[in-house]
Amino acid sequence: MASSKSRRPLMKLSIVGLLICVPLIFLMVRQPQPADRAAATGAEKDCPEKCNCTVGMRRHGVKKNQVTCHGLSSIPDGIPVDTQVLILNGNSISKINDELKNLSKLEELSMVDNKLEKIGPGNLTGLSSLSRLYLTRNQLSDWPDLCDDVGSSLTHLGIDENLLTGSAAPDSYAKCRKLESLVLTKNTFPQLSNATLAALGAAGSLKSVKLNSVKMTALDPTALLPLADHLTSLDLSQNPDLPVEQVAAAFSAAASAISSSA
Ligand SMILES: *[C@@H]1O[C@H](CO)[C@@H](O)[C@H](O)[C@H]1NC(C)=O
Ligand SMILES: *[C@@H]1O[C@H](CO)[C@@H](O)[C@H](O)[C@H]1NC(C)=O
Ligand SMILES: *[C@@H]1O[C@H](CO)[C@@H](O)[C@H](O)[C@H]1NC(C)=O
Ligand SMILES: *[C@@H]1O[C@H](CO)[C@@H](O)[C@H](O)[C@H]1NC(C)=O
Repeated sequence: MASSKSRRPLMKLSIVGLLICVPLIFLMVRQPQPADRAAATGAEKDCPEKCNCTVGMRRHGVKKNQVTCHGLSSIPDGIPVDTQVLILNGNSISKINDELKNLSKLEELSMVDNKLEKIGPGNLTGLSSLSRLYLTRNQLSDWPDLCDDVGSSLTHLGIDENLLTGSAAPDSYAKCRKLESLVLTKNTFPQLSNATLAALGAAGSLKSVKLNSVKMTALDPTALLPLADHLTSLDLSQNPDLPVEQVAAAFSAAASAISSSA
């Protein structure tokens, strides 16, 4: 049971939302930058070819063991087992085999700008500390099915600019119980399926969802109910065919569900 305190954010949001629903912008939380463009400094150690392994690299204000690789068409073996941040942006990696299995300390994996077509159960096995996964600009046409592998630790997931087309999120998303932030920008979601909303609602921690530029055309008045307890930020901007009245009705229904059960 959520306390009445944790129910307030959406109420506040929905009032703000109704006031500014013409621009359809409910953005309140800034996303962390997936790519760390800072130059690597520090001690090198045993490190796969085409990678830099850096001890004590600052990441979100804390020193981490970071590995950054370039010029790869597959993930290398032999990434140090104490790696906490792995940046594989801008390679041409198309799948994940067994290369990550030993990385139980890995907290952040960034694979922006690669060629991943699918992430299925088992692909992220062993990544028991993974909290941030950034998959921007790959070729994923299905939701990555990863909550059986990393559901107990994952907090941030970016699947923006992929080829998702509105098929339902797998039921296993209910196991992503710590997921707070989900970025779906620039996929194609004409509607949000009930199955997706049910799975995301069951996960129970989602605070921020970005669904801007997803070609949304309709929002059911009950659509936000599964998320109402936790959501504080929903970005539906740049969906020009989405009727403003439908957004207002969905926010209003969510707000009154919260206040009547509070
Ligand atoms: C490793 O770091 C050096 C120095 O910053 C840089 O010139 C090189 O391109 C980096 N290599 C990789 C694979 O990132
Ligand atoms: C994982 O660890 C095992 C045991 O130390 C080792 O044999 C294997 O090569 C490692 N796998 C990778 C991908 O580094
Ligand atoms: C990764 O996922 C692909 C596609 O679902 C699958 O074929 C492959 O066996 C998986 N790899 C591992 C190590 O689980
Ligand atoms: C989705 O769920 C709502 C109630 O939450 C229901 O009214 C609607 O008919 C459902 N739509 C589909 C396609 O099942």
